[in-house]
Amino acid sequence: TEYETILVSRPSQAPRVALITLNRPKALNALNRQLMLELVGAVTELDRDPDVGAVVITGSERAFAAGADIREMQPQGFPGVYVDDLFREWDRLADVRIPLVAAVAGHALGGGCELAMLCDILLAADNATFGQPEIRLGVIPGIGGSQRLTRAVGKAKAMDLVLTGRTMGVEEAERSGLVSRIVPLADLLDEALKTAATIAGYSSPVVSMAKEAVNRSYETTLAEGIRFERRVFHSIFATADQKEGMAAFVEKRAADFTHS
Ligand code: HXC
Repeated sequence: TEYETILVSRPSQAPRVALITLNRPKALNALNRQLMLELVGAVTELDRDPDVGAVVITGSERAFAAGADIREMQPQGFPGVYVDDLFREWDRLADVRIPLVAAVAGHALGGGCELAMLCDILLAADNATFGQPEIRLGVIPGIGGSQRLTRAVGKAKAMDLVLTGRTMGVEEAERSGLVSRIVPLADLLDEALKTAATIAGYSSPVVSMAKEAVNRSYETTLAEGIRFERRVFHSIFATADQKEGMAAFVEKRAADFTHS
């Protein structure tokens, strides 16, 4: 598929990994409608590709994404954004089975921070900055920021960020639980591809079940979540990859998962 606002590649050093690079550099990767549709379309397609086991989403060194496209939103009114259900497409990213690794450098603001939070693992370069500055524009987060940021960093920090619109640096973001790992800027992409390749080398169905189990903790009580985990855990004993993974350990060799 041809895209205009993103680049999709299959880096040779990372087997079974797809790399999506947001590519509106002049607008600091502002997330307009076209980019939303292309990115969600590409991820959905990769989610169905049996040769891909993980996806890295990155931006530029200067900006992961500086938010939803303000110029595009500016002229809009309530009936239009309501009927179009503006930003609804983004929710589809939360539903994919394939793990998404965000490799974040530079600005991750507003929708950019929200996109990073829609990913499963968030690797951040030492120059990354995060924030939900919508309040400065007279609006509030619209791609899940008020909910996902609060779950990630807690009410105290989320209120501070959402109500003041201030930006936080990568150390604060990591300390607060928003960021999985901080990586030197020069190593960010390599590290993200390596992380994704590690994941993609494991059993894809089992990886997706692990992702689903962790995500379930957002949606349910502890008792229900543990029940869900236990059922999924039991069901994995019906896979070939459970047999292979455990046999490989016992036979002191590397596992060769067939994603089945
Ligand atoms: C559209 C944007 C943009 C955005 C940057 N640009 N962010 N265009 N939407 N979100 C454009 C600028 O207009 C400019 O275009 C070019 O990118 C470079 O930006 P500069 O401002 O010149 O760069 P710099 O001085 O380095 O400042 C970087 C910045 C600043 C601090 C990130 O661009 C900024 O504050 N951007 C807006 C951040 C923001 O408020 N994001 C939240 C958006 S709302 P030209 O043509 O002038 O060169 C959102 C939530 C949606 O995401 C939900 C609400 C309903």
